[in-house]
Amino acid sequence: MSAVKSPEITIENFRKHKKNKTKFSALTCYDATLSKTLSDNGVEMILVGDSLGMVIQGHDSTLPVSVDDIIYHLRCVKKGNLSAHIMADMPFMSCATEDLAFENASRIMQAGANSIKIEGGQWMLNITKTLSSQGIPICAHIGLTPQSINRIGGYSVQGRDPKDKKKILKEAIELQDAGAEMILFECIPDSLTNSLVDNLSIPTIGIGAGPKTDGQIMVLHDILGISPLAKKPKFVKDYLAENNSIQEAISSYVYEVREGIFPSKEHTFLD
Ligand code: KIV
Repeated sequence: MSAVKSPEITIENFRKHKKNKTKFSALTCYDATLSKTLSDNGVEMILVGDSLGMVIQGHDSTLPVSVDDIIYHLRCVKKGNLSAHIMADMPFMSCATEDLAFENASRIMQAGANSIKIEGGQWMLNITKTLSSQGIPICAHIGLTPQSINRIGGYSVQGRDPKDKKKILKEAIELQDAGAEMILFECIPDSLTNSLVDNLSIPTIGIGAGPKTDGQIMVLHDILGISPLAKKPKFVKDYLAENNSIQEAISSYVYEVREGIFPSKEHTFLD
C-alpha cells in the first residue's frame, strides 16, 4: 500500500500568491527520490521539464525529448511527490498540430500531471485556446524558448530592444486571453518582467527574469552545482556550495525565494 499523501497543490494556490504578493518556489525534477525531497522541503511546484534531455539524457539540447520520455519521468516523480503541484512539459513538436496536441496533452494529464507547460508565443495561441477549452491547465512559456534554439541561434537574453519588448508583452496578454492559467518567462530583462507582471492577472513564474515574478523556477541540477553546461548562467545560484546537504540546499532555495532574497541583482538581467 502506498503512503497517504496530502492533496496536491492546485493552481488556486498560485493565484493566492499573486493576489497576496507572496512568492512560491518551483524546481525541475525527474525521479521519485528527489521529488520526495523537494516536496518534503517546501517546494510548491515540480516541473518534469524537457531539460531532462540535457541533464539526464546528456543531449546538447531539449529537442530529442519525446512524449514517452516525459511520461516515464512524470510517473517516477508522481510516486515520490507528497503534495507539490506537478507540471509537465509538452516536448518539441508534441503540439505541432491540433490533433497531436490533443493526443499528447491527454496522455500526459492521464499519466498524472496537474498542468502542462507549452513553449512558444504567438504560434501557440490556437493550441492554448483549444486545450484550455477542454479543461487542461496550461502554463505558457515565453522569452527564451529552448525548443526554438536553432531559430534563435543561442541561449541568449530575449526582449532587450523596445520592439521585442512590445512583442513579448503582446504575446503574454494574448496567451492569457487564450486561456493560459499561468505564464513562465525565461531569460528576459527585469524591466520587461515588471511590466509583464503588472499587466497580467494570472500567476507568473520566472527563470532568469528577475525578482518580480510570483514564482521562481530553476533546473534542480543547476542549484546543486552539477549542471552539464560549460559555463554557469548568470541567473544560476549554486545552493549546494553553501550548504551541507541536498536537503539543506533545497530548503535554503525555498527560503530565499519566499523571502525575496533570490534572485538578487547579481542573478538578474538588467537593460
Ligand atoms: O525544461 C525545463 O527545465 C524548463 C525550465 C527551464 C523552466 O522549461
